[in-house]
Amino acid sequence: MKNQKIIQLINVSKFYATEENPSVNRISLTIERGECLVLIGSSGSGKTTLLKLLNGLEKPSSGSILIKDKKIETYNIIALRRTFFGYVFQRIGLFPHMTVRENIEIVLRLNKKPRVFRTKKVNELLEFMHLNPDVYLDRYPDQLSGGEQQRVGVARALATDSECLFMDEPFGALDAVTRYDLQDEILRLKKAFKKTIVFVTHDIAEAFKLGDRIAVMNEGIIEQIGTQAEICEAPKTPFIEQLVHRGLS
Ligand SMILES: Nc1ncnc2c1ncn2[C@@H]1O[C@H](COP(=O)(O)OP(=O)(O)O)[C@@H](O)[C@H]1O
Ligand SMILES: [Mg+2]
Repeated sequence: MKNQKIIQLINVSKFYATEENPSVNRISLTIERGECLVLIGSSGSGKTTLLKLLNGLEKPSSGSILIKDKKIETYNIIALRRTFFGYVFQRIGLFPHMTVRENIEIVLRLNKKPRVFRTKKVNELLEFMHLNPDVYLDRYPDQLSGGEQQRVGVARALATDSECLFMDEPFGALDAVTRYDLQDEILRLKKAFKKTIVFVTHDIAEAFKLGDRIAVMNEGIIEQIGTQAEICEAPKTPFIEQLVHRGLS
């Protein structure tokens, strides 16, 4: 099953009416099944917009997006989001009035999974994320640390057993140690569940640790895409050279 195209972008652009320039500018990109593709770039370079296009939250102004060789608009996008994609938002996005259990099982409820199934799944996911269900199930988000909230956010995105996981700067607000631990969890879940992951960050160390390939975005385009070695050995632009050596300022 390796090296299969799971998502393809062909010449995709996104113009927002209020913006002078395209937020995503003629991007063509193939995502292989089972890879972790990291998008890195400065703030405003179009990373979140690209992720929203992949997830069907935004429609391209031009170009096509194919999911498993079929145009995204031929799918029922809501069904696709509930079964094929898991999404971890840039701001944590747990529902504050729902407990940990309710947050994680929400999509399972929408998918009409029976209670026994949901309970089993929520327990498994909490344990996988190293949160003891006895302790955490009935807590509310404001009773969790930032790192615990992110673990719940990831557990929620895993609940549907989706093939793809999209993560938008999930660890941006965390301290370095918590962040490092959670990066390890991502590597572990990638191995355990063989998911295709698109991960957004502005931290070059995080990008190199997690990415099979790294796409460097700047002003709506992908300036370079490749493995860590390819990018470090042959940075295509001065921007990328600086990114590799000094990170993003
Ligand atoms: N909903 C929107 N309406 C108008 N402009 C937007 C919207 N979302 C993003 N943009 C603009 O698109 C550009 C890229 O934004 P974004 O994709 O959020 O960048 P990043 O995630 O890399 O920081 C920015 O100039 C931003 O202001
Ligand atoms: Mg963003």
